[in-house]
Amino acid sequence: MKESMRQQPLDQDLAALLADYQVLYMKLRGYHWTVTGPLFFGLHAKFEELYDEAAEKVDALAERLAARGARPPVTLREQLALARLKEDAGQPSANDMVRNVATDLETLNVSLRALEQAATRAGDAATQNLVQGYADGQEKTIWMLRAFLHG
Ligand SMILES: [Fe+2]
Repeated sequence: MKESMRQQPLDQDLAALLADYQVLYMKLRGYHWTVTGPLFFGLHAKFEELYDEAAEKVDALAERLAARGARPPVTLREQLALARLKEDAGQPSANDMVRNVATDLETLNVSLRALEQAATRAGDAATQNLVQGYADGQEKTIWMLRAFLHG
């Protein structure tokens, strides 16, 4: 516990972000498994693509924390306590699944842009570049998901 109290604000933000991506990862896996209806094939594949991306981000954020000399959250319990995104134990419709993912990505982008600013102020270019790239990429994904919903 003492170690986490010594953590810098940037480390806390990175750990919370990692935790958010773990929640999103599991949500996407659940949607990949349980989506039904005429959109099954497209969404089943899209959710897999998105959970693979989320898993890569979890790994990169953990390694960024380690490189900064901080310990990443390593248990699901710890990650759930840190996460700001919420799990989904329900069975949403296919469209609601897409809407939930788009909303989570929008929430993440607010956190990413805030962390990008904080990293810039702290002079941590590696963190800044990492989260900036995520936010830029997710803006495109959000546009595609919203376009799907309005089609
Ligand atoms: Fe699968």
